[in-house]
Order: sequence, then structure tokens, then C-alpha cells
Amino acid sequence: MLVINTIKNSARITLRNNWLRNSLANFNAAPTNFTRTFSLGLALRQQQPDLVSVIFVRANGERIKASGKVGDSLLDVVVNNNVDLDGFGACEGTLTCSTCHLIFKTADYERLPDKPGDEELDMLDLAYDLTDTSRLGCQITLSKDLDGLEVHVPASINDARAA
Ligand code: FES
Repeated sequence: MLVINTIKNSARITLRNNWLRNSLANFNAAPTNFTRTFSLGLALRQQQPDLVSVIFVRANGERIKASGKVGDSLLDVVVNNNVDLDGFGACEGTLTCSTCHLIFKTADYERLPDKPGDEELDMLDLAYDLTDTSRLGCQITLSKDLDGLEVHVPASINDARAA
């Protein structure tokens, strides 16, 4: 009887050792899988060289990172990244609301490719917290030169259609 119990215990220990060995093998394989996933993500980013990063800074200082493609407007960036800016872009870029009002740093404002047209200036006049470097986000088109752009979101918005 003692011999039979010894053989049973030995078999259990062997099974446990095999389970432990397999578990360790799986554990050791995990970082390899992670590295592959990370590399794939990096490769996808490298295949999208036209992505332009934009940072939206709320009035309370919160920074929201987003990105868009060359040719997108800043309104597109907000919509496509689900940036939570209450009421932003209410007229969907038809230049009738001024809710997409954004404030640029002076250097960024001066390097924007286009100056505001009369329609945009008229709509900006209705925006709250207007500054010398204010623009309407729906009128700003992303170019690669604007990568890393930082724009400030005013504390309050005015939907000119409600007036
Ligand atoms: S989205 Fe309405 S003016 Fe820009």
C-alpha cells in the first residue's frame, strides 16, 4: 500500500511540475506577444504620415490630445475624435453659429495658411471672449506644418443662430 501511495504522489508531483512548466512557458511568451502588438501599432502609425496632432486646451487648463488628417478642418478633428466640447460646431461648418471659436497662440495664428474671410470675421464678431488671434475651427484646414498645434477653447460659446 505504501508503494502504491508513493507512486500516486510521484505522479501528482509530475503533473504539477508539468502544469507549472507550461504556465511559465505561457508567461514567458506573453511579453513577446505584447511586443508584436506594439510593433504592429507603430507600423500602422508609420503608414499614416499625414496625421496631424492637435491639442485642445479647455479654459480650466485640461489638455485634450487629438489628431486629424491633412485636409481636415479643426471641426472635423473634434467630431472624428469625439472631443467633448459642449455645443462645438453646432452649424456643422456652415458659418452660421460661431460655436467653433478657438483661440490660437500668436505664432500659430500667423502661420495659418489662410486669413479669415469677411463671412468668418462677421461670425467671429458674435463670438464670446474674442481675441486678436481668434478663428473659427471649421475654417482652419490642417496641413503637416500645423502638427503639434495647440488651441485654446473659450470658456463660453455663443450660438449666433439663437439670437
Ligand atoms: S461650426 Fe458653425 S461657424 Fe463653425
